Amino acid sequence: AAGAGALANVPTVLRKTLSSWVGFSNLPNQVHRRSVRRGFQFVAMVVGESGLGKSTLINTLFETKLYQPKVIPDPGADRGKTVQIESISAEIEENGVRLKLTVVDTPGFGDYVNNEECWKPIVDNIEARYDAYLEQENRVNRLKMTDNRVHACIYFIQPTGHALKPIDIEFLKRLHTKVNLIPVIAKADTLTEEEVELFKQRVLADIEYHGIRIFQPPSYEKDDEETAQENDEIISKIPFAVVGSDSVVQAPDGRHVRGRSYPWGVIEVDNEQHCDFVKLRQMLVRTHMEELREHTNDVLYENYRTDKLRAMGVAQDESVFKETNPAVKQAEERAMHEAKLAKMEAEMKMVFQQKVQEKEQKLKQSEEELYARHREMKEALEKQRLELEDKKRRIESGRPLTPEKGSKKRFGLGK
Ligand code: GTP
Repeated sequence: AAGAGALANVPTVLRKTLSSWVGFSNLPNQVHRRSVRRGFQFVAMVVGESGLGKSTLINTLFETKLYQPKVIPDPGADRGKTVQIESISAEIEENGVRLKLTVVDTPGFGDYVNNEECWKPIVDNIEARYDAYLEQENRVNRLKMTDNRVHACIYFIQPTGHALKPIDIEFLKRLHTKVNLIPVIAKADTLTEEEVELFKQRVLADIEYHGIRIFQPPSYEKDDEETAQENDEIISKIPFAVVGSDSVVQAPDGRHVRGRSYPWGVIEVDNEQHCDFVKLRQMLVRTHMEELREHTNDVLYENYRTDKLRAMGVAQDESVFKETNPAVKQAEERAMHEAKLAKMEAEMKMVFQQKVQEKEQKLKQSEEELYARHREMKEALEKQRLELEDKKRRIESGRPLTPEKGSKKRFGLGK
């Protein structure tokens, strides 16, 4: 009760415009400088059956030969019985900004005769990383924390052109509350344009049917039209149909491009007409890397942490937790906002459909009326034409114009 009382006494915030420069508007620059000095950490996990082009795509994404092609084991060699987890780290720098990139690979996923529970070592690894972070948070000295949590998991879907396979569904269902999932259709150059579109629709339908949450940029940043449009464009490409290549080939017009050369032409990795690689890179590296890190920290890790602490018997007052944890509150608000938007959209759709139907009905009616009038006018004109022709014929033959009825008898012209 004391806590609730204290919260009720929060002073009202006054809005003031300053008359002179104080300096805190420089805060974003300070944050920017500090972040650049510290560098960034990003951990990406790649999951998918072997040979789907995981190493190639990572090399293509970060334009480094981070990954060396794996030695293909001899036939009959012991390949182990479970999924292995391997990670490679590299520090890459661009325009003075340092990024410590870690790629977590999961060789063996889906490669065995029995693939039951092949998601388990992956979930264990993600949770172990959360545990390590939690342990750092609980240390006395928290100054040098390293963030090795998985910020994004790129899941490679085999380009079958059918639908998701049970192993895909199982994996995505097990992982969607633990990590930001980014599904991609691997080796999209093996499908035609229509096949890719159809396959995407089926994959999305499967994802929706199974209630799987995948990462996508928020589409309601109304305060910034450009960003909203950019996000919508990215969303429209999910699941990204990707093509990877770390070699440069010559296009028919002589340009040297990253791509794959075939007897019938060249697939350019960086050409948006050819595949969705550019949009994937835009989301993952250029526009939403921070969002991925934030979502991992504020929602996924936070949920894991809460469950873990609860299981350990650490009770928390839910309402105070929500009040004091802006991230949870924000996530809740966002969900509510999304639900409200979805409801509004459905209502608007209904009204729109109704209006369209009414309009169509009216148009149909006026079209019919128009046709009828047109027919009438045509008939009247045709009648007039016939009469005129008849008149003309009479004049030409020197016959009097009237009377018409019985004229032959009266003028003695009949037999
Ligand atoms: P593991 O290392 O065994 O897990 O395989 P991986 O998924 O990392 O595949 P990797 O990148 O080694 O590629 C396997 C083969 O597919 C190589 O011969 C690549 O050249 C080829 N490849 C990679 N990306 C593509 C692609 O987008 N399209 C096509 N057609 N082939 C690709």
